[in-house]
Order: sequence, then C-alpha cells, then structure tokens
Amino acid sequence: MPKFDDENLLVGFDKSDDAAVYRINDDIAIIQTLDFFTPIVDDPYLFGQIAATNSLSDVYAMGGKPVIAMNIVGFPKYLDIKILGEILKGGADKVKEAGALLIGGHSVEDDEPKYGLSGTGFVHPEKVITNSGAKPGDVLILTKPLGSGILSTAIKADLLEKEVVDRAVKVMNTLNREAAEGMLKVDVNACTDVTGFGLIGHVFEMAKGSGTTFVIESEKVPVIEGTFDMAGMGIIPGGSYKNMGFVCKEASFAESVSIDRQNVLYDPQTSGGLLISLPEKDAEKLMEIYRDSLSLEFALIGRVKEKDKTFIEVV
Ligand code: CO
Ligand code: CO
Ligand code: CO
Repeated sequence: MPKFDDENLLVGFDKSDDAAVYRINDDIAIIQTLDFFTPIVDDPYLFGQIAATNSLSDVYAMGGKPVIAMNIVGFPKYLDIKILGEILKGGADKVKEAGALLIGGHSVEDDEPKYGLSGTGFVHPEKVITNSGAKPGDVLILTKPLGSGILSTAIKADLLEKEVVDRAVKVMNTLNREAAEGMLKVDVNACTDVTGFGLIGHVFEMAKGSGTTFVIESEKVPVIEGTFDMAGMGIIPGGSYKNMGFVCKEASFAESVSIDRQNVLYDPQTSGGLLISLPEKDAEKLMEIYRDSLSLEFALIGRVKEKDKTFIEVV
C-alpha cells in the first residue's frame, strides 16, 4: 500500500493501529474504521449484534465515541431475505446502544453472508489513544475474558451447551463503550482492542510499537468459563496457529504455563475487550470505575518494563 502523509492525518494505516484518525480542527478529530466478517453464530440477529459491536470497538480503542455508521452487506440469493432483516436489526440495535446513528450502507450479492460496519467517531485531537504509547512502569488491564475464538469453533461443531454459547455471545456482543468511557477518566498511555491476533499478537504490537517488554501474568488473564474444556479437547481455531507462527519468536513462556493456556492466549478473538496500558498510580482508580461499570470479567494482567530479550514474557 502506498503511504499517505498529511499534517492532519494523526494516525494512518502504516502505524498498524486500530483505526485512522484525521484532525478536522483543534477540537475535533474523526476516527474512521471498517470491519466485516462471516457469521460466527447461527442466530442472525445475534450475528448482526456481534459484527456491529466488533466494528465499533476500534473507535473505542482509540479513545473515541462512535457518531455515525454505515452497513456493509454481502448476502446470497438462495437465503431468505428475512435473515438479512434480522442481521441488520441486530447491527442497528447495537449502533443505537452506542449512541450513534446508522445512516446507510451498501450491499452486494455474495456466496455467503457477510456483515459489518464502516464507523466514524469523534475524539479530541490531543486525547487520541494509540497502541504504541506504553511506558515502563505501566500496568495492563484487560476488559473482557478470552476464549471467543475457541468457543466459536466449538459452536460451529455443535459441541456446546446452550449456557456456554450464551456466555460466549454475551462477551462478543457487549460494547466496549463502558470500558472506553472509564479509560477517559484516568491517564492512559496506550490501548488496543483484542481481536484476530489474539492477546499475545496484540501485546506484541503494543510492546514493539513502544519499544518495551510486556510481562503477562497468565493466571490472572480472565477466560470465559468452558473455554479450557474445549482447548483440552484440541478445539483450536486455525488462526491460533497463525498467531503462534507470527509471534512465537518474540514471546518467552515460563515452563509453568500449560499448552492449553498458551493456546488460549493465542486464541483469535471476535469482538474482544480493550487492553489498556496505564501508569500504576491510575490503575486502582480505573479498576474501581470498572467494578461499577463493566458487566464482564476484567483484570489487571501484567506490567510493562524496559525492553528485555523478548517483547513478551508470559509467566
Ligand atoms: Co482493533
Ligand atoms: Co478492526
Ligand atoms: Co452503493
């Protein structure tokens, strides 16, 4: 891809950040993002919710607030059009919950359904939170439990009790809105949302981007109940192995970290939580805010130190 430079382009795609940021004036910058994918659950309404939640997540990860969104739709001729109606309703409901407006979109005929949003958000130009600002001494907070990739794979193979499916869906269709709002009340140095690269892949981007080493205390990382049962049975999505191949040279694991736990740390997430790097002095305040505002499991999962041998240390 050719590189674009402009004094108002605060974050471009070359930074491998969550979204692009463009300054309109001294008070407002727009955050622009686009995401879509194929169904991960059978229920079309829930799929719409999850896809929209995932799309808006990149706006939240930059410290912004979603303002407007447009649908991106691929839909096959052979399926009942009512299914598409359900998908779009799920998406629209999440956009509404985010306090944003759904203002249009575009659809094409496709072999399999695809859905997502192009979203625009606002942020103050000086309050953009990138994924590369972590500093030694910071601590790390993760705002959703891991396991959505493993559990989605198990859903496709019809291996899960309804209760576990519901739990996984709740993780994937919960907006990162409250997580982002909390972040704006303290000093945060860096943030990203945990998606396809898995926790370790996103940690790698953040550590490399800031030239630091991230120490992850693996036992503290929250995991959706039911995930380890599936990981133990070898239900591991292909993306996990890709993530492993991509970053394994940059990560060192203590011997005590089991293979199952490593697989969960590499698990590609759909609509995962925010991974936040902030000064230790602000961490307790943010944890307190989250105790009141977040409905999912969250935790302080590690810390940032001066660059050591590898970018990631998992203990
Ligand atoms: Co992202
Ligand atoms: Co994205
Ligand atoms: Co058009």
